[in-house]
Amino acid sequence: MTYNVVTFGCQMNERDSETLAGMLEELGYEYEENFKKADVCILNTCSVRENADKHFFGVLGQLKNPHENHPGRIVAVCGCMMQQQHIIDTLKAKYPWVDLVFGTHNIAEFPRLFKNVRDEHQKLVDVWEDAAPIAEGLPQKRTYPFKSYVSIMQGCNNFCTYCIVPYTRGRERSRNPEDIISEIKCLVANGCKEITLLGQNVNSYGKAKSVEGTYNADEGGVDFAALLRKIDKIEGLERLRFMTSHPKDISDDLIACFGELKTLCKQIHLPVQSGSDEILKKMNRHYDRAWYFDKIDKLRASCPDIAISTDIIVGFPGETEEDFEGTLDLVRRVRYDSAFTFIYSIRKGTPAEKMEDQVPEDVKHERFNRLVDTIHEIQEEKSKQYQDKVLKVLVEGPSKTNKDVLTGRTESNMTVDFVGPENLIGTIADIKIIKAQTFSLYGELV
Ligand code: SAH
Ligand code: SF4
Ligand code: F3S
Repeated sequence: MTYNVVTFGCQMNERDSETLAGMLEELGYEYEENFKKADVCILNTCSVRENADKHFFGVLGQLKNPHENHPGRIVAVCGCMMQQQHIIDTLKAKYPWVDLVFGTHNIAEFPRLFKNVRDEHQKLVDVWEDAAPIAEGLPQKRTYPFKSYVSIMQGCNNFCTYCIVPYTRGRERSRNPEDIISEIKCLVANGCKEITLLGQNVNSYGKAKSVEGTYNADEGGVDFAALLRKIDKIEGLERLRFMTSHPKDISDDLIACFGELKTLCKQIHLPVQSGSDEILKKMNRHYDRAWYFDKIDKLRASCPDIAISTDIIVGFPGETEEDFEGTLDLVRRVRYDSAFTFIYSIRKGTPAEKMEDQVPEDVKHERFNRLVDTIHEIQEEKSKQYQDKVLKVLVEGPSKTNKDVLTGRTESNMTVDFVGPENLIGTIADIKIIKAQTFSLYGELV
C-alpha cells in the first residue's frame, strides 16, 4: 500500500507533513511519487492568501471520483484551511467523497483517526478549536538527511490585522529546550549539517503563557538567544538558521549572536510588511520605520556582511500612493538581498477584512510591479558582489531544471549551480562563482 502527502504553504506545513509521512510509514505504507496513484493521499493545506485556497481546491478537484477508479483509496485533508468552518462547509457540500478531515491541532491523533476511517469505512471530520501543548516523540520521515527543519514553537499571538495564521494555528506554544536540543543532537548524529529553527515569531520563544503546559522562560529559563547559544555548541553541527523573526521583539542579545556564534549563518529574514508608519500601525505590527532601520543598523554593525531578506505586502486597506512610496524608499535604503512580495488578500475573519477603503485590484497590481522592479534592480547589483568569490555551498542534489548540474546553497541562502560528482551531495563544498545572476549563481568546484 502506498501514500503521498501534498504540502501547500510554509515550512511549518512541510514540517508537519514529515510527521504525517513518518506515521504512515510506521503503519506500513510506502511513498508513491504520484499523488494521484497513491492509496492514501493527504493534502496539507495553507490559507494565508486567497490563491492558496484556490490552489488547494484545484488539486483536490484532480482527485475527483477517487473511489470510482481506485477502490479502497483514502483521501484526507488537513492543515490551516481546515481550521475554518466555511471551508469545512464547502468541502461537505462540494467534495463529499473526502474521507478524513482534521486540523492543525490534532496531527498527533492522525494514526487513530486514519485507522477508524480505513477499518470502519466511515467518513470523519475532527477539527479542534484550541491548541494543545506540542506533542513530542512523534514518528518522522525527514525530507533530507543533511538539512532539517526543527520546530521550536507553534502558533502566533501577534494578530497582525491582515493575517489568518493566529486563527488557524492557535495560541503560541514553545517546546522545552531539552527536547529541542536532543532532537538536534540526534539529527546531527545521523549526518545532518544544517538546522533551521522554525516558529511564526522565534523571538518570542518561551515568552507566551497562553497555553498551559507549554515551556516558559521566565525566571532564568532559556530565551531564544540563549537557545541559539546552546545549539551552537552541539558537536558536528555546521550551519544554524531560523525563521521567522518579528522586528518588534528582536533583542540586542540575538543581534549579538550573529557576531559570536560559529554555526549561525550570516543571514536573517526580517519581514517589514510596509514602509509606511500609518500602514504599520493599521497592520498592528508594533514598530515603525525608525525602529526597523535601527535594527538593520545594529545587525550590520554586529555582522557587516549579513544577508537580509523580508516579506512585503502591497495594497493593504487605505494604502495611499504616498504610503507605497514609503515602502519603495525603505526597500532602497535597506537594500535587501531578497524579498517575498505579496498583493494584499482579504482573509475571512481578520480585522482588515472589515476595513473600509480596500485598494482597487488594478492599483495593487501596478504598485506590485513597481515594487518587484525596484527589488530586482537591487538584487542584481548585490548579486555581483559574489563574482569570482569562493563560497561554501551545502550541496543538495541535481538541479530540478538541469539534471547535469548539482545545486546547493550558500551561507547567505543563495542558490549555486555547478558541475560536480554526486558524492558531494550532503557535503559542504568550495565553489568559485563564475557567473553571478540576479537570483542564482553559477560556479565551479575548487
Ligand atoms: N509569521 C511570519 C509570517 C507568516 S505568513 C511573520 O510574521 O513573519 C508569510 C507572509 O505572508 C507574511 O509575512 C506576509 O507578508 C504575507 N501575508 C500574510 N497574510 C497575508 C494577506 N492576507 N495578504 C497578503 N499577504 C499576506
Ligand atoms: Fe501572521 Fe503576524 Fe503572526 Fe506573522 S506575526 S504569523 S504575519 S499574525
Ligand atoms: Fe499557510 Fe498555515 Fe503556514 S496559513 S503560511 S500553512 S501557518
